[in-house]
Amino acid sequence: MDRPPRKWLLLCLVSVFAVITLLGSSSSSGAFSSSVKPEAYTNYRRLKEQTESDYIELKTFSSRTSNLKEIRLCGKEREDYVPCYNVSANLLAGFKDGEEFDRHCEESQDQPYCLVRPPRDYKTPLSWPAGRDVIWNANVKMSDDRFLSTGSMTKRLMMLDENQISFDSDHELIFDGVKDHSRQVAEIIGLGSDAEFWQAGVRMVLDIGCGFGSFGAHMLSLKVMTVCMAAYESTGSQVQLSLERGLPAVIGSLISRKLPFPSLSYDMIHCAQCGVSWDQKDGLSLVEANRILKPGGYFVLHETSLSTKTGSVIEGFTRKICWTLIGQQQETFIWQKTTGPQCYSSSTQGVIPPCREDHEDIHSYYQPLASCVAGTASKRWVPVQNKSSDSHITPAELEIHGKYFQQGEFFEDFESSRSALRNYWSLLTPLIFSDHPKRPGDEDPLPPYNMIRNVMDMNARFGGLNSAFLEAGKSAWVMNVVPIRARNTLPLILDQGFMGVVHDWCDPFPTYPRTYDMLHANGLLSYLVSEGCSITNLLLEMDRILRPEGWVVLSDKLEAIENARMITTQIRWEARVIDLENDSDQRLLVCQKPFVRK
Ligand SMILES: *[C@@H]1O[C@H](CO)[C@@H](O)[C@H](O)[C@H]1NC(C)=O
Ligand SMILES: *[C@@H]1O[C@H](CO)[C@@H](O)[C@H](O)[C@H]1NC(C)=O
Ligand SMILES: *[C@@H]1O[C@H](CO)[C@@H](O)[C@H](O)[C@H]1NC(C)=O
Repeated sequence: MDRPPRKWLLLCLVSVFAVITLLGSSSSSGAFSSSVKPEAYTNYRRLKEQTESDYIELKTFSSRTSNLKEIRLCGKEREDYVPCYNVSANLLAGFKDGEEFDRHCEESQDQPYCLVRPPRDYKTPLSWPAGRDVIWNANVKMSDDRFLSTGSMTKRLMMLDENQISFDSDHELIFDGVKDHSRQVAEIIGLGSDAEFWQAGVRMVLDIGCGFGSFGAHMLSLKVMTVCMAAYESTGSQVQLSLERGLPAVIGSLISRKLPFPSLSYDMIHCAQCGVSWDQKDGLSLVEANRILKPGGYFVLHETSLSTKTGSVIEGFTRKICWTLIGQQQETFIWQKTTGPQCYSSSTQGVIPPCREDHEDIHSYYQPLASCVAGTASKRWVPVQNKSSDSHITPAELEIHGKYFQQGEFFEDFESSRSALRNYWSLLTPLIFSDHPKRPGDEDPLPPYNMIRNVMDMNARFGGLNSAFLEAGKSAWVMNVVPIRARNTLPLILDQGFMGVVHDWCDPFPTYPRTYDMLHANGLLSYLVSEGCSITNLLLEMDRILRPEGWVVLSDKLEAIENARMITTQIRWEARVIDLENDSDQRLLVCQKPFVRK
């Protein structure tokens, strides 16, 4: 391996002290309540001292890491590797009846460490919003027959240039399928046009089996947060394609386990030819859809070939979960969930009863589907139609979540994230790029103005970073992740209209390689150390899901950051430890994944 000598690398890092933004961050009580102090630019002399101390710090790292071996690169077969979804291993382990396509992390363990490589012709995605409509063919794993397929309305919108796939939204004729469909949905639920969804309380939509994501792209343009969820697919993945377009998506299925969302989360569930057999397994998939649907929320089913028999089986199940068919036009059916929890009373004949104890959802993550109705006793049982017309969460709505936190914490999370985001942005722009290796055959890289679209906040707390991104007018969306066993703030995140999931960071995340532009984690490293998870595994997983030239910002205690800094050397990220103004033991680690690794 030919790499520049480490000394040279160090000098490079040291020479880029042009703008060091100091970030004060302190932790008050435990890993999940640290806050960030307002930014402060230091004067030149302090900058220099800072850089020198950074240099010394790096030197000690370097002497400690010089005998650590770099982690090897994976083979070509792993280009689109998603751990936990090895169908052949699942079949060998005896999973069947569709469960072999489900998530089974235990079957993917003990794989040797390696770094997932991009395909040979990989190109940096176009920036938002151009990248929503045009993607590079080489970046997604597609089999040729997918291009020719004339599948459902949401799937036939694709044209293929020589090396680009385009979803031409200016082309009315091509896009008409999706626009007509969304107008039809609006009409059935009694709205004048699809521009009224938001006002009518339809703000969070789960689009199951989203095709190429075009319905979601249209809904997002109407300010409706729409998340694509589809099962793992080894080629032509709907999730991979959506994320490549900068549209929210996550791998998930209703095959046998609960989804990683709290109950009463979505205002609408949309399924256009989505491949779920709603009529099977005693209607358990519908019971799960009912769990995550808010009262008064809508279930939209678009099926071109629904047989009368299947239709009547589904209709029978929907009555058992207190849904009413509110309308049908051509092949689109819409049901509405009841607004009254008393409908599920155990004494009512033929209705599925409430779950015995309304146990907290965060513990039901990936548990087997169950035939009971969750959330009936929850304070969050508020009909979709009763939402306030404020775009921010109101004090009354916040009150509902009071069980988990003090309101002060919520606002503090936002304030600290707001100043942290300003700091991160200034760090990402000049520092990292100035010593960036040029990509082969490319002119100088542009600064990342619109280069950050898919963001993951790996320890999202109250969704403060998401709010800060919105407030700053960044063209990004945030996947808010609440670690399992952490405080369950996920319902509050979703109720703000943000995307979020529960996740166990000891396991891989259900997404394809190269799907995020930026990963952020505050306090996650020290928390996971306390949980006994492997930090090397975590950073390798972050490397997998980060696109080449994507950024990582980790904020944590010195010890956790030092440890992570050593691992970043092994996985060949460019990394800087940013010291804090204030002698606290909090540090920032800012990293960039290189475009090519030799
Ligand atoms: C450093 O952080 C501590 C703990 O957050 C805080 O109390 C103190 O005021 C800070 N010092 C300075 C100089 O900002
Ligand atoms: C999937 O599992 C099979 C059988 O255990 C194994 O041979 C194969 O290498 C695995 N594939 C990946 C990509 O890990
Ligand atoms: C929702 O609004 C209706 C009509 O305004 C009202 O009667 C009902 O009490 C409200 N429900 C809740 C849970 O706020």
